[in-house]
Amino acid sequence: MEKKRKVQQLIEAALEAREHSYAPYSHFHVGAALMTAEGRVYQGCNIENASYTPTICAERNALFKAVYEGERNFEMIAIAGSPEGPCTDYATPCGVCRQVMMEFCDPKTFCVIVAKSPEEYMEYRLEELLPLGFGPANLKG
Ligand code: THU
Repeated sequence: MEKKRKVQQLIEAALEAREHSYAPYSHFHVGAALMTAEGRVYQGCNIENASYTPTICAERNALFKAVYEGERNFEMIAIAGSPEGPCTDYATPCGVCRQVMMEFCDPKTFCVIVAKSPEEYMEYRLEELLPLGFGPANLKG
């Protein structure tokens, strides 16, 4: 499939995932859709907690679901996040999510798409978002 079409479908999946957000404290709703190298898609949303720190971001929710299923090769992730209601802003991934991406994704090739809609989005490589990141390769002698 043509790359642009693939990106737009992934953004649709992130926007759909955003509908599942549980964010009674921040009212900031985030959805993510992660695509594997084989084209399978895993969705995640942010899930907050009254004790605040157990909150998980949409990106890590999607990644952990996929890793649980045995996936290890990822091509891109689309993220759609803004205050509740229509998605009106760009939500770039937090530092913790960038580090988790670093564990499972090649920083030179993994593509992070930050979207408001299938027509309005920005595209980054993980290495741009996490320069000089520390990952599994650093632990190999
Ligand atoms: N959040 C995400 O899910 N992903 C991001 O990229 C940024 C922040 C969530 C965490 C929390 O539930 C809410 O957005 C406000 O920080």
